Order: sequence, then structure tokens, then C-alpha cells
Amino acid sequence: MSKFRVTLKKETDDSYDIEIGYALEKKLAADLKEGLTGKASRYAVITDGNVKPLYGEPVAEALRSEGLSVELLSFPAGETEKSRKNKELLEDRMLEMGFRRDSTVIAVGGGVVTDLAGYLAATFCRGVPCINYATTLLAAADASVGGKTAVNTPMATNLIGVFSQPQKVYIDVAAWKTLDKRELSSGLAETIKHACLSDAAFFSWLEENVDRILSLDPEACMHAAQTNCRIKYEIVEKDEKETSGLRESLNLGHTLGRALETVSGYSLLHGEAVAVGLVFQARLGEARGLMKPEETKRLCSLLERAGLPTEIPEGIDRRELVEKLYTDKKTRNGKLRFVFSDGIGRLATEGDQKVSFEVSEEEVLRVL
Ligand SMILES: NC(=O)c1ccc[n+]([C@@H]2O[C@H](COP(=O)([O-])OP(=O)(O)OC[C@H]3O[C@@H](n4cnc5c(N)ncnc54)[C@H](O)[C@@H]3O)[C@@H](O)[C@H]2O)c1
Repeated sequence: MSKFRVTLKKETDDSYDIEIGYALEKKLAADLKEGLTGKASRYAVITDGNVKPLYGEPVAEALRSEGLSVELLSFPAGETEKSRKNKELLEDRMLEMGFRRDSTVIAVGGGVVTDLAGYLAATFCRGVPCINYATTLLAAADASVGGKTAVNTPMATNLIGVFSQPQKVYIDVAAWKTLDKRELSSGLAETIKHACLSDAAFFSWLEENVDRILSLDPEACMHAAQTNCRIKYEIVEKDEKETSGLRESLNLGHTLGRALETVSGYSLLHGEAVAVGLVFQARLGEARGLMKPEETKRLCSLLERAGLPTEIPEGIDRRELVEKLYTDKKTRNGKLRFVFSDGIGRLATEGDQKVSFEVSEEEVLRVL
């Protein structure tokens, strides 16, 4: 018998910059020209059908004007299109176009595009660099930062994917002007989630300024984008791959939210489902002494002012919803787990590490 040890200890530095501003296409092109992604010589701009004419083409054009070799690829817009099938179709098209290890993927769009293109980049020829160019508030607030990439499956959202950090993130606040009002509100749900889990002052600021964000006041939008990024990356820096558990805190409102998103047949947007999930954890938390009824009321009032739902919509089958909760990635030994806020602006924890708590089906049914 022979036995060998393959020693692969390594130190890596996956640090990257996040640039927040207005109309950043030219800045992106200049950065790539200066070698942002090393020796890459071909660029695949991946976007969806809606974003393609608005920002995909301008980004591709900006790169071309710097003399870079670019192809623009798109897939149909929408949550149901964040699929293994579309990833495969894009990969095949890239291979036919001659893309190989010298490629860089540039994801231009919302969270659906950054999640799918990020996963594609992480596996294409065993991994090529990826840049996120976020065009929605939701992607700015959450999806484009942190390196979680995934596609959905028929069973539930985001079950297949990898951790893979982008080389840089560009948050183009100017792109929010073409967003549907409902989509802007959807992004505010993740923003309110961040405030609930770690920043009471930001929650109060949102109470005062939510209307300014909805009317796209530049100063308010920049402040929201910057604060979202800070809250998210501070958590990711401490627990990049959800090993200590801290990163699970970003799941606040998502246990019910993701189940609701799927059971509603995606008629609810991601942020809308998360908004209902935030209220649900608050009500579960009330029964555990974590939230006061007046705090839940403040949360509901802010969500409503942001144009978000706070109740499970009519027609949702409660039994099906409970069954779907068990597909959540936090489920351990067949038991449901939820993340809770402890009042507004603080995360409920036990010890240093534990941020999700076992919840019985009876507790869930009582609140439902
Ligand atoms: N990876 C993560 O850490 C993470 C975190 C939160 C959410 N997510 C994922 O993000 C997704 C939701 O993100 P989203 O709300 O950005 O969805 P999305 O990408 O589907 O964008 C929403 C809609 O807006 C359109 N759009 C995008 N930018 C636009 C613009 N500037 N102007 C006009 N239309 C525009 C899109 O075509 C789409 O129809 C979900 O799949 C969710 O699972 C991922």
C-alpha cells in the first residue's frame, strides 16, 4: 500500500474594490484597459433582454472604444430564467465564439444576471475573472457584493452555485432611473433588512428619507448605496463562506421570503417576498421576546412606505408554504431555522457565532 499527501495549503487575497457612482461604463472600460483582470484579452458582457439595450450595449461600446475585444450575450429577463439551462446555453455560445481561459465575464444587470454570470465565470474553463456592473438597487444593496453565485432549481431558489468573488463591483446609481417602481421598492427590502440587522441609525434615516430614494434624489441614493455596501461587506469580510455562521445573518427575512417567492410562482419579486419574510420573523420574534409590537409596527410602516407588502398574499397555500420552508439551506437535522432581529438594528445571537435559531413548525403555524 502507498500513501501520499497532496499539500495544498495556500494564502489567497480575494480583496476587491466596489465603485459607486453615476454612469460608470467609461470608468470600467478604462480600468480593463489598464489591466484590471490581468492578462485577459477577450470580454464577454452578459446581460438580460431588458438590460441589453439600456446598459449592456453602452458598456460593450465603451469597451470597444478602448480597443478591447468584446461580445455581448444575453438571456431572457426574469427570475425563472436564472436557470441551469440558460447557464449552459451561454457557455456553449461562448465556447463557439472562441472564449477560453483568456476571458473575462462582465455581468451587467440586476441580481439575476450577477448571480448567473458569476456562477458561469466561476466554472467556465475552471474559472475566469468576473466583474459585476449592478443596475438595480437590489443588486447594489446585496446581490453584486459578497461572491455568492447561483442558479435556481425547480425545487427552490439558489440551491446550485459556488462562492466566487468578483474582481471588482461597479454600482451605477444612474441606472436606477429606468427601473420599474416595483423593482426599486424590491431593492429597498434588502436595504431595510440591512438596517434591521445591524444599524438602528440607518433604519431611522430610512424612515426619514425613503421618499427621497423613491424619487431618486442623488444624495439619498448615494447614501443608501454606500451604507448597504458597508453593512454587507463588513459581514462578508468576517465570514466569507458562511463557515462561522455570521453570514447567515444576511438571511434575515429570507427563510419565509424564499419559500414564498417559489410558492407564489415568482409572481412576488425577490424583495417583495423578503419584505413579508421580515415581518414574519418580527412576529415570530415577538413571541420570543425579541421584538416589541411597536417595533414590528415601525418595520411594517417603513416597508409599506417603501411600496412593499407586509402580509402573505391571498391565495398562497399555507401548507405548501410550510413544506417549502424545509428546502431552506439553514435547515439542520430536518428542523427549521430562522434568523431574528433583536429589536431594530441588532441581530439576535447566542454566543459569538450562533445567528440562526431552531423554530418549531407549531410556532410557524401559529404566526401564519
Ligand atoms: N448573490 C447574492 O448574495 C444575492 C443577494 C440577494 C439577492 N440575490 C438574487 O438577486 C435576484 C434579484 O435581483 P434583482 O431584483 O436585481 O432582479 P433582476 O436581475 O431580475 O432585475 C429585476 C428586473 O429589472 C430589470 N432591470 C435590471 N436593471 C434595470 C434597469 N437599470 N432599468 C430597467 N430595468 C432593469 C431586469 O431585466 C429584471 O426584469 C434574485 O435572483 C436573488 O436570488 C442574490
